[in-house]
Amino acid sequence: MAVITLRTIEWKNNIVVMIDQTKLPNDLVFVEYSDYMGVANAIKNLIIRGAPAIGVAGAFGLCLAALQSNSTTKEEFIEDLEKAKKTLNDTRPTAVNLSWGLEQIMQIAKNGVNVSDIKNAMITKAKQIADADIKINMTMGKHGSELFSNNDTVMTHCNAGSLATVAYGTALGVIRATKESGKNIKVIATETRPIQQGSRLTAFELKHDGFDVSLIPDTAVGYTMANKLVNKVVVGADRVLRTGHVYNKIGTYQVALIAKQHGIPFYVAAPLSTFDMKSNPQDVIIEQRSGTEVTQIGDKKTAPDGINVINPAFDMTPPELISGIITEAGVAKPPFVESIPKLFEANK
Ligand code: MRU
Repeated sequence: MAVITLRTIEWKNNIVVMIDQTKLPNDLVFVEYSDYMGVANAIKNLIIRGAPAIGVAGAFGLCLAALQSNSTTKEEFIEDLEKAKKTLNDTRPTAVNLSWGLEQIMQIAKNGVNVSDIKNAMITKAKQIADADIKINMTMGKHGSELFSNNDTVMTHCNAGSLATVAYGTALGVIRATKESGKNIKVIATETRPIQQGSRLTAFELKHDGFDVSLIPDTAVGYTMANKLVNKVVVGADRVLRTGHVYNKIGTYQVALIAKQHGIPFYVAAPLSTFDMKSNPQDVIIEQRSGTEVTQIGDKKTAPDGINVINPAFDMTPPELISGIITEAGVAKPPFVESIPKLFEANK
């Protein structure tokens, strides 16, 4: 039986409670919001991050906006919600779960009749989305665990664990399920510069939950693969296109390239809510973040004043580098243009 040890986000008595991930790994602190602007700032400032987690944060944020609205007619109420939805959606552009979560809640509002019933229905739906996230991750984990063998050493990049979801995780959910199935599994986590989701979050989470995990600098990916210290890779995703192009934390592309060079299978784990079946690669906006994430580590300056910085938060891994995409509906194998639509069919 899986043990859920960290719950990233929760709705409690009309308050959104979340772990402040900027304080990890030193302090496990929970923050509370009763104002949707607070949730929007939390998403923007990475207090909560990870595609599925920000999808749920967006859904809960819109529920707070509903509670904050004094409008009594449905038309005015929907106007208030549209404004909040835009604010929440504009916080981070790449992960598709955010707009997905907001849209799910907005549909409930639009389909409702009177404002007070709509508010309750929105909250019920957002809580369902949050609880479903855990179940989906566990199902995805089971499917994914079949791809892993006893004594595998698996590399992961960024944090696609409990902390990137409501609980259990996507890529780390697969690792958890593999261990729960009785197989020995070791993990190598990249530190994931510039803001170190790998060392601050993945290493924290896996150590907290008793996994055998080693941390490497991002620059040691080639070394560990060339020296056969790792035999599989599993990462999460922020957006997957119908063609199998995967958008994930910056650095994922180079991990995939080096894995290909060394014949190491490279898997992606993502729920169907991370799939964007409409966009083409040229449509996807890659979030560019502040240069200070690169010019300093914590508060310490590590680059000259005034230096130009290029700081994309995500990159795109093309389908030819990917061995399989693990979802709650099964594992899509290449060619993805054929296998991905079949997963959606199977999930209907
Ligand atoms: O910028 P972040 O920390 O929100 O990055 C998103 C991610 O957590 C990762 O890209 C992750 O691998 C996919 S989300 C499960």
